[in-house]
Amino acid sequence: MTTEAQQQDGAGVATSGDTLTVTDNRTGRQYEIPIEDGTIRATELRKIKTSDDDFGLMTYDPAYMATASCRSAITFIDGENGILEYRGYPIEQLAEKSSYLEVAYLLVHGELPTQRQLDEWTHQITIHTFVHENVKEFMQGFRYDAHPMGMLLASVGALSTFYPEASAIKDHDGRYLQVIRLIAKMPTLAAFSFRHNQGKPYVYPDNDLSYPGNFLSMIYKMTELKYEPDPRLEHALDTLFILHADHEQNCSTSAVRSVGSSQVDPYSAVAAGVAALYGPLHGGANEQVLRMLRRIESKDNISSFVEGVKQGDERLMGFGHRVYKNYDPRAKIIKKHAYEVFEVTGTNPLLDIAIELEKIALEDEYFIERKLYPNVDFYSGIIYEALGMPMEMFPVLFAIGRTSGWIAQWLEMIDDPEQKIARPRQIYTGRRGLEYLPLASRP
Ligand code: SDX
Repeated sequence: MTTEAQQQDGAGVATSGDTLTVTDNRTGRQYEIPIEDGTIRATELRKIKTSDDDFGLMTYDPAYMATASCRSAITFIDGENGILEYRGYPIEQLAEKSSYLEVAYLLVHGELPTQRQLDEWTHQITIHTFVHENVKEFMQGFRYDAHPMGMLLASVGALSTFYPEASAIKDHDGRYLQVIRLIAKMPTLAAFSFRHNQGKPYVYPDNDLSYPGNFLSMIYKMTELKYEPDPRLEHALDTLFILHADHEQNCSTSAVRSVGSSQVDPYSAVAAGVAALYGPLHGGANEQVLRMLRRIESKDNISSFVEGVKQGDERLMGFGHRVYKNYDPRAKIIKKHAYEVFEVTGTNPLLDIAIELEKIALEDEYFIERKLYPNVDFYSGIIYEALGMPMEMFPVLFAIGRTSGWIAQWLEMIDDPEQKIARPRQIYTGRRGLEYLPLASRP
């Protein structure tokens, strides 16, 4: 979330008087700490010591609730007002007027492309959709019922062994090719994981189709000579990819930045992002929402379910957010697109339960006082299910969209002169100075 200072003066330039005066009551000493962009540098606290050999103060911030880890110009979120912008463009405009590949270009390059730039970007991604046959054989080694997110996690990491030149992360031309490959191959790996789960032959990319259309073809094509995607489903999926493309320093993006800070190749860094997104509190939430709606089963059971949540028995999955303390703007857009999909696929009875559940929750004091609103995952799973996707594929679809955001954030981190290998400190709570006891003399 962008700090107040940045919102006020934009450039975030510290003006005179932007300081914190701290008195250390242990020594009576005073310290002037500069305030920049609504933050203070934690390293400034190291000056606050009780003696010359004192390490100095640090901040203690489990889960980084109040810690900015970087400067970024990629995504702006105002959680209190439910605002989300990619490179300054409101998500509502991009969802309505842009395409996923154009948004991916915007996130990676920082500007919307010209027609020629978009054509070249689309061409490069299209011709890189295939993976080496060994990758396909590697994926066929998984159990028949392996979770597709586990398969995606492993196969993205495996790509680093097929492109060893990717470790040259400072080589701008070389790493640009890896950026293209990751965006191009993520749908292929995702679709191969799906087909593996279904016990069906893998379908190769069809480079005549659009980015979402090709993914639908690799998922659904059977004996027909050429799969013809329904344009309404193609458009709905493309919009879902746009809505999932980036979200500033979320858990999986922080994982990509942290792992990438060791200067490992981008495939390994993105594999770390896939691993973080797999978690039920993050990208796995859309799968958990469907399981939750299935368990509720009918509108009649909603009230008792909500009571259970308020008792702490479980969480209302798809609700709440670390940053949004208002309605997630992506949830609003997805909810609208649900009806577009259902025109083609027929409605989903779980949608009626979700809408009633949202209505009851939004009027309940427990959720209001905790500022818990639907997030991006609350309605996305219902659409994915209507598209015929099994629940296990929901976080995989999230990963396809988020790949362009992970890459944009990785590139920004690599080129940021302030960034170095991530290595937090700790508060040590263990024992000290013990004597080693030989096994024979241990009690
Ligand atoms: C994503 O960070 C991002 O940007 C993520 C994401 C992205 O695009 O990358 O937006 C994608 O991950 C969306 C979130 C998907 N996860 C879920 O829907 C899972 C359910 N939601 C939660 O578990 C929770 O809301 C989090 C994890 C999303 C946020 O948790 P926080 O900020 O750490 O908040 P918290 O756990 O400290 O909760 C604050 C209070 C607690 O109550 P008290 O202990 O104070 O009484 O709110 C309660 C929580 O118990 N609470 C919920 C709840 N979420 C929080 N109670 C019921 N149901 C919930 N969903």
